[in-house]
Amino acid sequence: MLTAARNDMLTRVGPGTPMGELLRRYWQPIAGASELDTNPIKTVRLMGEDLVLYRDGGGRYGLIDRHCPHRRADMAYGWVEETGIRCSYHGWLVNETGRCLEQPYEDTTSPKPSKAGCETKAYPVKECAGLLFAYLGPLPAPELPVWEPFTWGNGFREIVLADVPCNWFQCQENSIDPVHFEWMHDNWGARMRGADANAAPKHLKLKFEAFDHGFIYKRVREGQSEEDRYWTVGRVALWPNGFYLGSHFEWRVPVDDENTLSVAWFFIRVPKGREPYVQERVPTWVSPLQDGTGRFITSHVINQDIVAWAGQGRIADRTKEHLRSSDIGITMMRGRFFEELEAMAAGKEPGGIIRSANEAQCIALPNMARELNIEGLTLAEFDKDPILRQRLKEFRHHYGQPPEVRREFVEAMGISG
Ligand code: FES
Ligand SMILES: [Fe+2]
Repeated sequence: MLTAARNDMLTRVGPGTPMGELLRRYWQPIAGASELDTNPIKTVRLMGEDLVLYRDGGGRYGLIDRHCPHRRADMAYGWVEETGIRCSYHGWLVNETGRCLEQPYEDTTSPKPSKAGCETKAYPVKECAGLLFAYLGPLPAPELPVWEPFTWGNGFREIVLADVPCNWFQCQENSIDPVHFEWMHDNWGARMRGADANAAPKHLKLKFEAFDHGFIYKRVREGQSEEDRYWTVGRVALWPNGFYLGSHFEWRVPVDDENTLSVAWFFIRVPKGREPYVQERVPTWVSPLQDGTGRFITSHVINQDIVAWAGQGRIADRTKEHLRSSDIGITMMRGRFFEELEAMAAGKEPGGIIRSANEAQCIALPNMARELNIEGLTLAEFDKDPILRQRLKEFRHHYGQPPEVRREFVEAMGISG
């Protein structure tokens, strides 16, 4: 249980709030690069700031104030040119550093080379593994961490976005909550398929370990032992707002205090014999969350998680909760946030930030599926594993995979539709 003031500290993310300032110190995934292929301009709202993301004619990415520095028109209705984005109201041209390059009427009637004082807010953007990451904190920006899976070859990758109607922190608490798998995904999943008993293997033992890039959670369920990778390796609640499960990442990116962009990045190595496979473009798609009646879709794993997150309310009221031993990881995570917030208030840099380019270029995390993803399996071996067999059959993580993404997947994997 937390006081209302402590709950506010964890959940409020606008500019100038302690948590908002902390999260701004880390690169945040905000879009798929492929989203800009059809329209090079996308509106984004991040931690309460309204922005436009764009790719200019020279291939540079920009993330700038949504409102034009001239008289505040909406830059989302502008267009991109070779060196920047132009406002459709009076034609001012702005680049990715926020500099104003052209002011057409002034440039004609009283040309001044300097447009000093007319800069707009601009944040750095970097592409990695098909994702676009933005950094909204004080400069110089730290290195963008290149997690090891981003360097893997011969894989089919896809990016799935979802607009989740609740605060980011309750989504992130789900990254360190092993017991919900048994209930939400296993027992509830079975109930929805008609089961009349709670038959999922019970959790018998949990362990949580802290490290620089977050927390590792480990578990033993009925039918497993301490020899199992769920105990020897575990899964990672990635600091500060991610989740890493060996073949995919999820991030909970705050849109504002009451909305979160869920960004998920998936990797599956093509079967042995399908190499070399080079994916030219990582597809990005948006998973719908509600059906025609307004009820949440419950058929897919992350959609089920979203039912829990949004169900806790726009901002979960942690003055009314009752934490137990299943929630030790959650207490640890909150504790680290409070410690880091205190350290930042004392002028220190929060943990897990990488300043060495060398260190950032391939960061390994505990991974239960490393060999599978690096060395690969034959199709026959895929078929022998119930989870992987299912993965080939249909995309179970998020509802609504578009048919064209399924076609690319089928083609990459060398399977039939
Ligand atoms: S408001 Fe954008 S150019 Fe005038
Ligand atoms: Fe889950």
